[in-house]
Amino acid sequence: MAILEIMENTLYDFGMIGLGTMGRNLLLNMADHGFKAIGFDLDASKAKLLEDSATPGTTVKGVSTLAEMVQKLAVPRKIMMLVPAGKPVDNVIASLLPLVSPGDIIIDGGNSHYTDTIRRVEEVRAKGFHFMGIGISGGEHGARTGPSIMPGGDPEAYEKVRPILEAVAAKVNGSACVAHLGNGAAGHYVKMVHNGIEYAIMQLLSETYQLLHMGKGLTNDELHKVYKGWNEGDLQSFLVEITRDIFLQPDDKTNNRLVDMILDKAGAKGTGKWTSQDSMDLGIPVPVIDIAVSLRDLSAAKEERVQASALYKSGTHEIAAPTEVFVTQLADALYFSMIICYAQGMALLYKASTDLKMNIPLPEVVRIWRGGCIIRAAMLDIFYQAFTENPKLANLLLDKQVATLVQGKKHNMVNVIMHATQTGYPVAALMTSLCYLEAYRSEFLPTNLIQAQRDYFGAHTYQRIDMPGVFHTEWGSFDN
Ligand code: 6PG
Repeated sequence: MAILEIMENTLYDFGMIGLGTMGRNLLLNMADHGFKAIGFDLDASKAKLLEDSATPGTTVKGVSTLAEMVQKLAVPRKIMMLVPAGKPVDNVIASLLPLVSPGDIIIDGGNSHYTDTIRRVEEVRAKGFHFMGIGISGGEHGARTGPSIMPGGDPEAYEKVRPILEAVAAKVNGSACVAHLGNGAAGHYVKMVHNGIEYAIMQLLSETYQLLHMGKGLTNDELHKVYKGWNEGDLQSFLVEITRDIFLQPDDKTNNRLVDMILDKAGAKGTGKWTSQDSMDLGIPVPVIDIAVSLRDLSAAKEERVQASALYKSGTHEIAAPTEVFVTQLADALYFSMIICYAQGMALLYKASTDLKMNIPLPEVVRIWRGGCIIRAAMLDIFYQAFTENPKLANLLLDKQVATLVQGKKHNMVNVIMHATQTGYPVAALMTSLCYLEAYRSEFLPTNLIQAQRDYFGAHTYQRIDMPGVFHTEWGSFDN
């Protein structure tokens, strides 16, 4: 039989809608693992690029009509879309529904808001199909070589896609960085929190960069060495690793390093903000994530910042501590703060698991974040142990081993904050990490005063420390 004829009769294992870099790379990754992969994109050049980039010997086809892709898939069909969140996802579902058969599995692999996913699961289920929200992390490179995959939803549908997802996911000590993460939109919820932690760690790293670069005057070569050293120790993580590399990247338009030519305005697609918003709805504080979102917003207000810098001339000063000493202190401060970021994210998942009835297995979340994803880090091994010993750990900071680590780093954390505030550097995420711990470990908080004020002006009542019940007082004016 001619090769063309064989291809014509082939039934494919997995279909992808949207052949941007992520979709294409994930599909090629599947093909590399022996699955027959087919992709659809309205842009015929993307369908062709898919075929052209396939590893020789693998079965990969690109088509430019959705109907053709659906026809060529083995049933139950497994179809993923990787398209921008929002309306495009609803549009794709609407065009798919008339083409699929009962039992087929439609997957949204993008960064959709979890409430949209909950709605879509219901809508699609009512029509007799499965719908799964799957978070995928690792960027373009990760999609090709092994991402971390965060699926949620119908366990029956998960079992059908599990072999493919396990094959393509990153591996840590032989185990695949994918697991069923709970009901409904749990996969997208976990990915949202992943991104919140991602925002927070990126903000922390930018603060360490500012202190070293502006406060200590380190050159890009010296910065590269510092982050390289950190990445070889207990701070080892993907985000530290790429930061190390960024300092050496030349600019192809000037003789400078690229990092020095990039405008200090950070964009955001919204997942960090969603994490903060949801944390407030659930009443679980994630202030390092909040501040990271706010600082991106503040970075965008470049013109106002320029005006303000002319108005407030106090400026910044050199950090007096010797470089070697300061680098060590800063490493501890970063380690301390990264633990706080994960603790806040995991505390949110703990609450969402019950309040949103998602039933999220926390040890599995930590296990699959150890490889492939943007927030993978050596310290996750310690957290994995903590959650394995106690899967219902409400906050990572309650784990004894984690507490010992945090306490061991706290002295240097305080030193860094002192240096930064004395010299005028805005280390908002580092400070927030410290304040969060100080508040979280406080048996006593001054909130009795807040309750008194609420009752004073609004009769909101208060509880007492010496007897049960709810009380109200007619507060007096004592202006003498
Ligand atoms: C990942 C990333 C990925 C994407 C973020 C960027 O895990 O692979 O999180 O999903 O890079 O959405 O988000 P912002 O554009 O909001 O920074």
